[in-house]
Amino acid sequence: MTGVLYGVGLGPGAPDLITLRAARLIEDAKVVAYPSLAGGDSFARAIAADLIASDAQEIVMDVPMTVERAPAQAAYDTGAAQIAAALDAGRDVVCLCEGDPFFYGSFMYLYARLSDKYQVEIVPGVTSITACAARAGMPLAARNERLTVLPGPLPEGELRTRIEGAESVVIMKVGRHLAKIRAVIDDLGLTDSAMYVERATLPQEVVLPLAEAPEKAPYFSMILLTKGADPWL
Ligand SMILES: C[S@@+](CC[C@H](N)C(=O)[O-])C[C@H]1O[C@@H](n2cnc3c(N)ncnc32)[C@H](O)[C@@H]1O
Repeated sequence: MTGVLYGVGLGPGAPDLITLRAARLIEDAKVVAYPSLAGGDSFARAIAADLIASDAQEIVMDVPMTVERAPAQAAYDTGAAQIAAALDAGRDVVCLCEGDPFFYGSFMYLYARLSDKYQVEIVPGVTSITACAARAGMPLAARNERLTVLPGPLPEGELRTRIEGAESVVIMKVGRHLAKIRAVIDDLGLTDSAMYVERATLPQEVVLPLAEAPEKAPYFSMILLTKGADPWL
């Protein structure tokens, strides 16, 4: 019998936003896997730290943050092989994923490599979008309004066109793209409708109108923008 691979969403950072199902799986896990920034810490592991048994085997995937895809793909190839070895030995593996595994989650790279050969179960998590909207006090969409999710690394022209045609907008992966995103939102005259949220739900959380946001943003930051009708109408 081969083991089961669980892709477990951890929520946006606060450990008490881990679902009960995810917490039970992590506490019982004999093997846990997670990505970490090459040579650095793992945000996913930090969120779940209090739940991981001291004698659990840990499979760490050192994923480099490079623009080229090949180094990250190699890290996921290696991680997938280690996870496959545990599954082949009949051991279940719980893979930790910040937020939700199927929403811009790194777990998708493992799912692509392993789901045709092994049983995989996904445990959804609270996404950073809903966490940031909650912390910013910003309802995102009501009735038939549309919510557009944009990655910050998109080219300036595409960001502009998509924001222009949108109602509510969430811009993820802000980080080093903050100045470009800000310039586009400013140009469209929408700065007063935008909020900036950094490290939502963590002790270091920052929530500010975009106009007051710092000049530098960490990777774990987001901009929310609503142009839709008042949801209370
Ligand atoms: C690779 S995506 C991971 C998304 C995650 N799977 C989810 O469900 O939210 C990383 C991006 O999510 C956003 N993000 C994740 N956690 C966040 C947090 N606690 N506060 C603000 N933004 C966050 C940031 O925009 C970051 O660049």
